[in-house]
Amino acid sequence: MDENCNSLDCALPEIGYLVASILFIMGLKKLGHPRTAPTGNLYGAMGMLVAVVVTIAQMDFGETNNFILIISGLAIGGFIGYLMAVRVQMTGMPEMVALFNGFGGAASALVAASEVFRRINENDLPEGLELYVAWTAIGLSALVGWVTLTGSLLAMMKLKGGVEIFGTWYRTPTWGPEWLNYIKGLVLISIVGLLYMTIEESGNQDYVIAIIALSSILGILFVLPIGGADMPVVVSLLNSLSGIAAAFTGFIIGNNVLIIAGSMVGAAGLILTNIMCKAMNRQLIDVLFKSFGGSDKEQVTRTKVGSDPEEVAMVCDGISKCIIIPGYGMAVSQCQHQVREFADILEANGCEVKYGIHPVAGRMPGHMNVLLAEASVPYEKLIEMDDINSEMGECDVAIVVGANDTVNPAARSGEGPLAGMPIIDADKARVVVMVKRSLSVGYAGVDNDLFYEDKTMMLFGDGKQMMTELVSSLKDL
Ligand code: TAP
Repeated sequence: MDENCNSLDCALPEIGYLVASILFIMGLKKLGHPRTAPTGNLYGAMGMLVAVVVTIAQMDFGETNNFILIISGLAIGGFIGYLMAVRVQMTGMPEMVALFNGFGGAASALVAASEVFRRINENDLPEGLELYVAWTAIGLSALVGWVTLTGSLLAMMKLKGGVEIFGTWYRTPTWGPEWLNYIKGLVLISIVGLLYMTIEESGNQDYVIAIIALSSILGILFVLPIGGADMPVVVSLLNSLSGIAAAFTGFIIGNNVLIIAGSMVGAAGLILTNIMCKAMNRQLIDVLFKSFGGSDKEQVTRTKVGSDPEEVAMVCDGISKCIIIPGYGMAVSQCQHQVREFADILEANGCEVKYGIHPVAGRMPGHMNVLLAEASVPYEKLIEMDDINSEMGECDVAIVVGANDTVNPAARSGEGPLAGMPIIDADKARVVVMVKRSLSVGYAGVDNDLFYEDKTMMLFGDGKQMMTELVSSLKDL
């Protein structure tokens, strides 16, 4: 705030930013539970609107066309964002999140770059301690922002599996010999050296351009070796980095709301990364520097005779407790409505039905909760892994819909890629029904002993088709 300003007019922008920050904090709090998450989302969007309006209201456009440029940018960006949000499939959400993280990082880095170029061109260079602080923040914003942009774009392409150019499909590579870590180290040291040079020769913008170029390369080198199964963890980490870049930029242009929002995104992203690593029993350091899953899939050599929906319906007839365990296959086949219908019929027959939700079922945090909420499954029936495991022993039938790794007992063996990952103990139920198209492995590429147990009935087929047939068989009984 202007030192000479003590009127309410001068305080208004800061009050506006305070309101926006409070909305962000309340939004984040509400995002912590599926029931309150839609309101949380709305609060966040409102906070962003307040922040944008307050920022524009403070600007002095004079006789320039900048106002039209800004409004046009807002309209075009808002329209593209709206189209992407309404068109995206649930299975495509992680890719969209990755893309948005990249844009967030790039936006912060571009603002920081334009500020440094402006100051150099207008010869408005800070001096003394202010120079050190401002130019370090600009360098760090460029580093984190550009790493986030190129890393996120590559992460998005890895999640998609590849890119189609003129009708030819190019698979996104996963490549990372151990020596690549030394190259990454070297690039990072060079960036730090360049950062020092930007301070030494503060009027030379070439060093800033070199930081941008090297940071862009570093983002690609950082994500290139990481295996497909770890990609959501990396996306979460990049999300955190995009927030950190925004906080640095807020510091550079003296914008409090950007500092607050950026720090919140940074902290929330780090917490989420930690939760995901714990749920997969992976160390972040292994995720970043060792490849896992995605490429080395176990060959399945065993066979199992499949069951049919009529047979499963007969087993479900008259049971008193059923636990449904959804996984990525439910998202692929979009069968959440049929799952709900199946549960409704059982409940109408006096059976208690609950849903066992593994923290990393699907491909992003909360994936199953969102899908089941879309099918109006009451939240209180979605039970977290530890709680549902304590009930598994008294469960008559566990219906596993398109889940695999998250119920794979191999995780208890202490060996292989799933070693130590906590699972839902579906194998403790009296009967297990697995709904999936084949005996093929899950995301971690590990064969699943549960398929071959005597008490397991395999219902081979697309989730939606199988659940639809199961529902009609139940109705026919
Ligand atoms: P997965 O282990 O990936 O298994 C999903 C199963 O769904 C597959 O085995 C597949 O078998 C089946 N499937 C695919 N399409 C289907 C369809 N149309 N109809 C019916 N079934 C279908 O899934 P999960 O148990 O949910 O485990 C998630 C995995 O992702 C874990 O390894 C986890 O670590 C990893 N991961 C998750 C996250 C988050 S945050 N959720 C983050 C990082 C990694 P068929 O091909 O035989 O049908």
